[in-house]
Amino acid sequence: MIFTILTLFPGIFESPLNESLIKKAREKGLLEFNIVNIRDFAADTHRTCDDAPFGGGAGMVMKVEPVRYAMTHVRNEIPEERFVLLTPDGKRFDQESAARFARFPHLALLCGRYEGVDERIRALVDEEVSIGDYILSGGETAALVVVDAVSRLVPGVLGNEASPVDESFAQGLLEYPQYTRPRAFMGMEAPEALLSGNHEEIRKWRRKESIKRTILRRPDLMERFQPTREDEIMMREAMEELE
Ligand code: ADE
Repeated sequence: MIFTILTLFPGIFESPLNESLIKKAREKGLLEFNIVNIRDFAADTHRTCDDAPFGGGAGMVMKVEPVRYAMTHVRNEIPEERFVLLTPDGKRFDQESAARFARFPHLALLCGRYEGVDERIRALVDEEVSIGDYILSGGETAALVVVDAVSRLVPGVLGNEASPVDESFAQGLLEYPQYTRPRAFMGMEAPEALLSGNHEEIRKWRRKESIKRTILRRPDLMERFQPTREDEIMMREAMEELE
C-alpha cells in the first residue's frame, strides 16, 4: 500500500515512519511512503501557502492553489489515489474507517494547517476525516494516527495475521484482559481459567470479560453490538457478576 502525505511540515514524518512496525513493513516492501511538501508547489518567490482570510479576523488560511498543484502532481505520479483531508470538522475516524482505508492501494492524506483551509480545498478531496473532538495544531499528527491504524491492517504488516480480528473494536467489543508470567504479582493472581489449558473454557472466559469490560467502560458500544445466542447468555451472566 502506498501512502502519500501532503504537508507544509515534512520533517514531522521523519522519525515516526522510521521506527518499529512501519519501518519493518517498509523494509519488506509492504508499505511505501511518499512525503510531498506543499510549499514546493507555491507559485511565488516567497513560496506563500497561507493568506489572511477574506472578511478579516485572526489567523491565516491555507491557500488553495499550492494544494491543487501538489494534488495534480501526486495524481500524475501515482494514480488510483484516494484524497483525504485531515480536519477537526471531518467525519470521525474509527476502526471501521481504518479497515475501509486499508483497501485503497494509494491513500493520499492532506494535512490542513493554520487556522483553517480555504473552503474550496474541500471540493478537491474525496473525504474529510477528524481523529477526535479536539483541535490539533495541524493535520500532521492526525495523519500519523491514520497511517498507524491503517498500516497494521494491511496484510503481512503484523506478524500474526489473526491478531487484528481479535482486537478491541474489531468485533464491536473491547479486548479481554491479558496476563503473562508471573502467575501471582503483589497478591494479584492471573485468572484460573487462563491457566486451565482448556481452549473452550479460555475462549468463553475471554468473551465474557470482553462483554463485561465493554458494558463498564463503553456502554455506547453495547448499543451497536449484535450478540449471538451465546453472547446473550454471557451478557446476562456478566450483568449479574457486575452487580
Ligand atoms: N487538524 C486539527 N485538529 C484535527 C483533528 N482533531 N483531526 C484531524 N485533523 C485535525
